[in-house]
Amino acid sequence: MNQREGYTDDVVKGFITWSIIWGVVAVLLGVVISLQLAFPQLNLPPYLTYGRLRPIHTNAGIFGWGIGSFMAFFIFITQRLTKTRLWSPGLARFQLYLFNVVIALAALTLMLGFNRSKEYAELEWPVALLVVVLWVIFSINIIMTIIKRKEEQMYISLWYIMATLVGVAVLYLVNNAAIPISLTKSYSAYAGANDANVQWWYGHNAVAMVLTTPPLALFYYFLPKSTGVPIYSHRMGIIAFWSLVFMYLWTGAHHLLWTPVPDWVQTLAMAFSVMLIAPSWAAVFNGYFSMNGQWHQMRENYLVKFLIFGVTFYGLQTLQGPSQAVRTFSAFIHYTDWIPGHVHMGTLGWVSLILFASIYYTVPKIYGREIYSVGLVNLHFWLAVAGQLIFSITMWVAGIQQAAMLHATNPDGSLHYSFMETLVEMYPYWHGRALGGIIYFASLLIFVYNIVKTVTAGKPAAVTQKA
Ligand code: HEM
Ligand code: HEM
Repeated sequence: MNQREGYTDDVVKGFITWSIIWGVVAVLLGVVISLQLAFPQLNLPPYLTYGRLRPIHTNAGIFGWGIGSFMAFFIFITQRLTKTRLWSPGLARFQLYLFNVVIALAALTLMLGFNRSKEYAELEWPVALLVVVLWVIFSINIIMTIIKRKEEQMYISLWYIMATLVGVAVLYLVNNAAIPISLTKSYSAYAGANDANVQWWYGHNAVAMVLTTPPLALFYYFLPKSTGVPIYSHRMGIIAFWSLVFMYLWTGAHHLLWTPVPDWVQTLAMAFSVMLIAPSWAAVFNGYFSMNGQWHQMRENYLVKFLIFGVTFYGLQTLQGPSQAVRTFSAFIHYTDWIPGHVHMGTLGWVSLILFASIYYTVPKIYGREIYSVGLVNLHFWLAVAGQLIFSITMWVAGIQQAAMLHATNPDGSLHYSFMETLVEMYPYWHGRALGGIIYFASLLIFVYNIVKTVTAGKPAAVTQKA
């Protein structure tokens, strides 16, 4: 088993535990801010307002829950795919401490109102510098393990892992370039439209390098592990990988359509966004074709259910995304609630379902126990899917109504509705979103309970299998 083979799994346990804790914080805050939108009296100034809690929600979700789990699984997967022990277990343990310090500092500083006002890059420079240190030690450890690998072939997951490590480093350094004027305040190194362009080059590639390439690395590893049959086509996976990383880097300006950013930059972003459908769907098809003759496992194997639903939401997400990047459609839905619908099909449907599957696979393996309750896993699954669909569908309907109202004009060309009138119409949908969020949160608590019980009271695994 793992310890016998010398793999470093104690730190994997640590990252899984902490990412789950930050995940609970993120989803709880998601529910709180959705309630604050629906019931404005729940805003408690100065610290507990929507404006302060929203960035803590996004940071805890993407960095605490997302990156925290990816750190766990990159360490877990890389060792197994390279058949090599982690290069430096000591460095990985330091990384775990630093990770928690950074996330806690992020939450604290954002609550106190220190914010660079760049979405997903809000952290002021001292915390951002710690992030750089964290990422460098993480990358060195994984890359050195890959360099010293005993298995020559590089499986697809390793390519996605390396793209994440390099991609995040480049994006983060460029977009965080700033001139500090005090310990808690800095100004971006760029100005005006250039600043916006750099920010969304970063912003969308955060979607690429944090919310796409890491879950794909996990998907390609855990799907064959869960089904027991190999991936349909390694070659298709590699071709899709290179096209995906090449195309993503040009798409950022689709967040800036109809703005002073040069027209050709917008058109380029639009074209590359539409082209992205091909490599994205290559991964989806690779997953589906790997299920040839195995579809019965959707009923029998709960891991497969999470993974295939997850990749299906990825497929839907990567059809919706390119359509949003088309100028005419963007003019309609940009600035509306349609976008949070898109975002949460990705974060709750795609990213989180893949993470749940990865945790359900890994925890029994590294603790040598059987899952505590399969019934609770299934309950978790259906509540999570229901909560996410209620959230996303409500937001899409809200977005279309909002867009139609914002665009309605009188015969003389003046606007038919005031902004306030469009806002008031959103209340029923915001109640719906909060309901979806509460259901998702309930599913998360069931998941946490099941994992804790697996670790503390799960039956010892009959024969300890190789992880
Ligand atoms: C059921 C759980 C969740 C609820 C109820 C929730 C709720 C919300 C709300 C109300 C917003 C603000 C929307 C707006 O700007 O109008 C938001 C934004 C956001 N949330 Fe969540 N959230 C949840 C889970 C998550 C998770 C787990 C993640 C990440 C892994 C996440 C990532 C984000 C991001 C990236 C945004 C910014 C979206 C944008 O700017 O368009 N959320 N969330
Ligand atoms: C082919 C792939 C995709 C394309 C072309 C795409 C395109 C877009 C576009 C055009 C927007 C901006 C909408 C607007 O504000 O008008 C957007 C927003 C967003 N997308 Fe996607 N998307 C894709 C896949 C994904 C995936 C897989 C995720 C994973 C969770 C995701 C997460 C987000 C987030 C978090 C935002 C909100 C950014 C913000 O305004 O704060 N997208 N996407």
